[in-house]
Amino acid sequence: MPNKSALMATLLALAAVAALCAGASAEDEDFPPRVNPGRLPSVQKIMNPVAPDSVSIAAGREIFFGKGLCTSCHGDTGRGNGPAAPSFNPPPRDFTNAGWQKVRTDGEIFISITEGTQFGMLAYGDNLTDKERWDLVNYLRTFGKSR
Ligand code: HEC
Repeated sequence: MPNKSALMATLLALAAVAALCAGASAEDEDFPPRVNPGRLPSVQKIMNPVAPDSVSIAAGREIFFGKGLCTSCHGDTGRGNGPAAPSFNPPPRDFTNAGWQKVRTDGEIFISITEGTQFGMLAYGDNLTDKERWDLVNYLRTFGKSR
């Protein structure tokens, strides 16, 4: 009998670990939306009014490395490994992740930058103009391409 309950305890512990792992990988792979479900359809449809040309991308890059301080959390390579990253859980987004690039529309990215998220992303709506935040969206898209 003691053996049986020991086995039971082991199985329960394994199940708990498996559940934790499943939760973590769902978060990593699926990227649940950061705006609430009722609002998601309209946010997803917001059109990017700024063409992703070299001028806009260069402007976004300048803010990313400059006054936006984005690199302090997201890192110089956009992988979410800047100097302040270890204080965040979940970590700052890795913009090179193809799954994330695919699942988010420009509108969702714009709203995340504007309003922040409940998981530590800061709100920049008061500090950067609409145009500057769209330039950032255009720059962030470049992480999904060549890197
Ligand atoms: C103080 C740290 C910090 C700074 C500075 C920061 N971020 Fe973030 N950012 C985070 C964290 C943490 C997350 C992950 C939050 C989450 O999972 O909801 C995140 C997530 C994001 C996301 C993904 C949101 C989504 O919908 O998946 C975008 C886009 C983003 N940041 C853009 C930026 C840009 C652009 C800047 C600079 C203007 C910036 N961040 C500056 C911490 C930061």
